[in-house]
Amino acid sequence: MAKIVQSCPVIVTDLDYLGGETPVLTALTGTPGTGKSSITSLLKERGFAVCNLNDLVEESGARTTYDEERQTWNVDVKLLRGSIPAVRPLILVGHYSHLLPVDIVIVTRCHPDVLRRRLEDRGWNQRKVQENVEAEALGVITAEAMDKSNVFEIDTTSASPAESCKAFVNILQGGGDPYRAGTIDWSEVIMDWF
Ligand SMILES: Nc1ncnc2c1ncn2[C@@H]1O[C@H](COP(=O)(O)OP(=O)(O)O)[C@@H](O)[C@H]1O
Ligand SMILES: [Mg+2]
Repeated sequence: MAKIVQSCPVIVTDLDYLGGETPVLTALTGTPGTGKSSITSLLKERGFAVCNLNDLVEESGARTTYDEERQTWNVDVKLLRGSIPAVRPLILVGHYSHLLPVDIVIVTRCHPDVLRRRLEDRGWNQRKVQENVEAEALGVITAEAMDKSNVFEIDTTSASPAESCKAFVNILQGGGDPYRAGTIDWSEVIMDWF
C-alpha cells in the first residue's frame, strides 16, 4: 500500500471555482527542487491525506523503462490512474500528478537561478540540473496543466516552507484567486542566457 496519511482536519467546502464542490483530488506538482516534498511534510503534520506518486509507481508496476541519460524511470500514467488510493479528499504529490484526473492543480514554482542552486546542492549532474532549470524557466509544468480549469501556482523562491504550506491550504479553502496560474513569468531569465 502506498504510504498515505489519513484524516483531513480541514473542512474544504464552497469553493467558487469548483462550483461549490469539494476538491476530492488535488495535484501538488512542480519541477524537481521547487518545494513539493517540503510542503508535503508540513501537510502531513497537519493531517492531510497525501499520496506520493513515487510510492504509487513502485507498487502499481507503472514503471516502464529506465532512461539512462536522464537517470529516471519512465512512467505509464494510464496505469497509474487505476491505482490512485480510494481515500478522499486526497493530495497526489509528484511532478506528473497534474497529468492525472484531478480537480485542482497546485504548481510549486521557483526562480531558475535559485532552483539551479537547490539542484546543484543535491549533487545532480549538470545536464540534469540544466534540463530542469530550463523546464522551470519555460513554465513547462504549468503549461501542461493548463487544460485543467483550476490551476494555481505558489512561488517558493523567497518564501519559507511554512508560508508555502499556508498558501497551499489557503487555495484548498477557497482563497486561490491571488494564486491563479499565469502571473509567474521567468522568461527574462531565458533572455539573459543568450
Ligand atoms: N518556500 C519553500 N517551500 C518549499 N521548499 C523550499 C522553500 N524554500 C526553500 N525550499 C527548499 O527547496 C529545496 C527543495 O525542496 P523539495 O521540497 O525537496 O522540492 P521537490 O520535492 O519539489 O523536489 C529544499 O531544500 C527546501 O528546503
Ligand atoms: Mg520531492
